[in-house]
Order: sequence, then C-alpha cells, then structure tokens
Amino acid sequence: MPQINPSILSADFARLAEEAARVPDANWLHVDVMDYHFVPNLTLGLPVVESLAKATDIPLDCHLMIDDPDRWAPAYVEAGAGSVTFHAEAAGAPLRLAREIRAKGARAAMALKPATAVEPYEEILPELDMLLIMTVDPGFGGQDFLDLTLPKIRRTRELIARHGLELWLQVDGGISMKTIERCAEAGADVFVAGSAVFGAEDPAKAVSALREAAAE
Ligand code: DX5
Ligand code: ZN
Repeated sequence: MPQINPSILSADFARLAEEAARVPDANWLHVDVMDYHFVPNLTLGLPVVESLAKATDIPLDCHLMIDDPDRWAPAYVEAGAGSVTFHAEAAGAPLRLAREIRAKGARAAMALKPATAVEPYEEILPELDMLLIMTVDPGFGGQDFLDLTLPKIRRTRELIARHGLELWLQVDGGISMKTIERCAEAGADVFVAGSAVFGAEDPAKAVSALREAAAE
C-alpha cells in the first residue's frame, strides 16, 4: 500500500496536535525543519518536534532542510522522530550520518533537490531506509510539481531493483490528485502532501483519496 505523509507545513502551527488528529490514517506526519540558511524560510526546530512527538501517536518523518545536518540530525532522533531525512547537498559525511541516525534507532533518509542527480549516491543507497526525491525546490509549500523529476524517480526505482534494496522512495512537493499517479507510476511509494491535505475541507478524506489514486 502506498504511504501518505501529510506535511504540517500547510497546517495551523498554533494547533499542531489538533491538526495531527485530523489525519488519523496518515502513515507518518511530515515535519519540515527549515533554518533560513539551507532554504530561504524558517519553521521549527527541536523543542517543537519534542512536544509534537508526545502529542500524537503518528510517527514523525522529519525533513531537515538545514545546513550542517551532521551536527543536528541525531538530536532529532532523541527528540522523538521515527525517521530523519537530511539533504545530500548539505551533508558533509552522508554515509557516517546515515549510520548514526540508524544507530540511534530511527529510519535514515537522504533527500535530493530537483537538480541533484542520484547516480553519485548509488553506493550509499544500501545504508538508507528511504530516499527523498524533491519534486519542487525545497523551501515552501504550494509550489507546482516539476515534471522534470519523473525520469530521476524512474532511474532511482531501477537502481533500487538492480541492487535488490528495501529502500522506500519518497516524493515531496506539489503532490496532489493531479500528480500523484504519475509519481506512483514512475516508482515512488511514499508521498508527502501539504496543501493537498491541509488545504482540503476534509484532510482525512484527502489522505484516503490520495492513497487510492497512488495505488491504482
Ligand atoms: C517543501 C517541503 C514540503 C512541503 C510540500 O520544501 O519540503 O514538505 O510541505 O508542500 P506541498 O505539498 O503543498 O507542495
Ligand atoms: Zn518536506
């Protein structure tokens, strides 16, 4: 079954626990951490993740859009994240970092911006639990899906199959009822959706509709 991870970036930041309760069937809650440096936007950090992890039963999928993830990512596991994603473009030692996240007990994931190729990272894939292919340039919700990312999703799915890996393949950015089928067809199996879920009148219904569309 495809996994749907609603992004709280499109939720009401003053009522995060209540917003989480509106998507009880979410596989993971996607938490976008931004630092004004790696991306031109600022959201939240460790104290909020720590509180949110206590306030919901949905596991947290923390997407770190920050500089120096080598220094900060392990602390997100301690704060209660079940999955921690760092950016390949920001990590100094991605292999060591992935191993450290796993050793601390969370799933380790690495993200690629739309213009970053997957091939230079082929050797690292067995050390990851998930690869995130950004389908917009990171920083903001509500951007248009970039079709040019579809060939990379396909190539990554082929790499995963060739190496016989269990790796999940996540997409994030502009995922909606209009774009999710194309991503699923290309090989993605974990879908982040912000505006398509929290911008909908009934977020729970939006989650199940997206999951059905991805499963077709
Ligand atoms: C963007 C974030 C996304 C964002 C997606 O940089 O990483 O997780 O919330 O928002 P939508 O689904 O609205 O494109
Ligand atoms: Zn994200």
